Amino acid sequence: MRIVHVAAEFAPIAKAGGLGEVLLGLTRELTKKGLDVETILPKYDFLDLSKVQNLSIEVPHFKCLEHQNAMWSCKYEECQLHLLEARHPAGYFHRGKIYGCEDDAARFIYFSRAVLEYLALQNKPIDVLHLHDWHVALCAPMVRNLFHSLKVKSIILTIHNVEYQGKCAVADLNQIGLNGSFYLTPNLLQDDHPKHPSTINLLKGGLIFSDALVAVSPTYAQEILTPEYGGGLDGTLRKLRSKIVGILNGIDEKSWDPETDPFLPKTYGVESALKGKQRMREVLKLGKRPLIGAITRLVAQKGPELLEEAIEITLKLGGSYILLGSAPHAKLQQHFDQLKKKYQGNPQVLLEFEYHEALSHQLYAALDFLLVPSHYEPCGLTQMIAMRYGTVPIVRATGGLQDTVFDVDDASTIAQKRNGFVFRDKTKESMQHAIARAVRLFVSDPATFQSLIRRGMQSDFSWKRPAAEYIKLYRSKSALDINPIRINVIADRDQRIQSGQ
Ligand code: ADP
Ligand code: GLC
Repeated sequence: MRIVHVAAEFAPIAKAGGLGEVLLGLTRELTKKGLDVETILPKYDFLDLSKVQNLSIEVPHFKCLEHQNAMWSCKYEECQLHLLEARHPAGYFHRGKIYGCEDDAARFIYFSRAVLEYLALQNKPIDVLHLHDWHVALCAPMVRNLFHSLKVKSIILTIHNVEYQGKCAVADLNQIGLNGSFYLTPNLLQDDHPKHPSTINLLKGGLIFSDALVAVSPTYAQEILTPEYGGGLDGTLRKLRSKIVGILNGIDEKSWDPETDPFLPKTYGVESALKGKQRMREVLKLGKRPLIGAITRLVAQKGPELLEEAIEITLKLGGSYILLGSAPHAKLQQHFDQLKKKYQGNPQVLLEFEYHEALSHQLYAALDFLLVPSHYEPCGLTQMIAMRYGTVPIVRATGGLQDTVFDVDDASTIAQKRNGFVFRDKTKESMQHAIARAVRLFVSDPATFQSLIRRGMQSDFSWKRPAAEYIKLYRSKSALDINPIRINVIADRDQRIQSGQ
């Protein structure tokens, strides 16, 4: 079965957050299970290509509209990658970063079309074209309406975060050779917000034209159908609910393993966890108080105000607090910089604002508790990584956090499943209560605390089960014929419009 993933990230060479990790972990596991798996991503200027193997130019020149491109091929460990070098004059992938440019929509629209040009040139049948998030969602309508020669049995779109949708103008589609105004209707790519009737929504295109939609946790698959969590697309998602499934992410077992982690001064397993964690604490000079921390992008989704409130709450309870946060938005960064000044010199508070892979591994090992107070969390990987490192999660009950963390005091959950602390409301009080329970257990009941460490470390958060669920989905979708009526109607109309009839 040939599966082609298309995405903006792939860890560790192009990682901004969980998306890149999913691409690595999922494609590695699918490959191990014997599937023919490839991933296509942009050849960003900042890629550390010393990390990849067998890098070679695969197609030296191919056109996307009037622009030249090249496709590179390489391996990252087991995973087969294709890196698209866009020689577009706007230097789309020469910006030193993955996202955060004014023309992000144009960059990824171009990437989407160039990927399809390459696949058409290859002319090899594809069982599943697997798309991830808004960046490449436009591939779905383009495959069905424009690239008729492409032999794609089925298109699957994984929704990692429905809040990000790639909203843009009709002109952005025109630029890429599509007839933008054709797509500007409620049943195609027109944004669902009544105040944005002339806005194109790329994610919506992916939702409508894909054969199956995967939300990254079962709870998130339900949440996105509601106005609170659907990012304005809940109406469309409710109409499409029969093709939505929830598959909980895993974590890449090789990248996140305290027994082999090269970033740790002393690696450890279940039996040696206390010693290994203690050693990490000594190296980082973190003391012996209960240590609560968070490792996160600092964006509204992650509950930044709760991450801030947690500092005083922790101090009052006699603990220490660490935040490793990366803020993509200047305003929030400035706010947290002020906070850093306020706590300068306080040995119980450490605030680090950068993206630091090595330090993140060390903190997962050093912490007693990982706090994840997200307003919404499609899946969340940090709570699973924490448990693998023997760190007990304290989370808000939403999305994948709700599916992976079960409260120690929740009598409705079987005792062997309970692995952390959960709070429901997005309030300081609700979080405070959970943190207080956690610290109390740490101080007064070390035996139970240690059994939580053990339980977390022994849980299976690997990609084995999720990959098996994806394979089941691939099989069920690629065995079916594409819905010929829907596709042909749209294709005919589009072809007529494209040729000006
Ligand atoms: P999201 O993708 O929404 O940011 P996830 O929990 O799925 O959330 O994944 C976050 C990933 O990014 C984890 O691997 C986490 O360790 C990593 N991460 C987040 N912030 C930082 C940071 N400041 N430094 C290093 N790694 C970080
Ligand atoms: C998104 C979500 C996060 C999820 C990740 C990987 O970044 O915010 O919850 O874990 O994608 O699916």
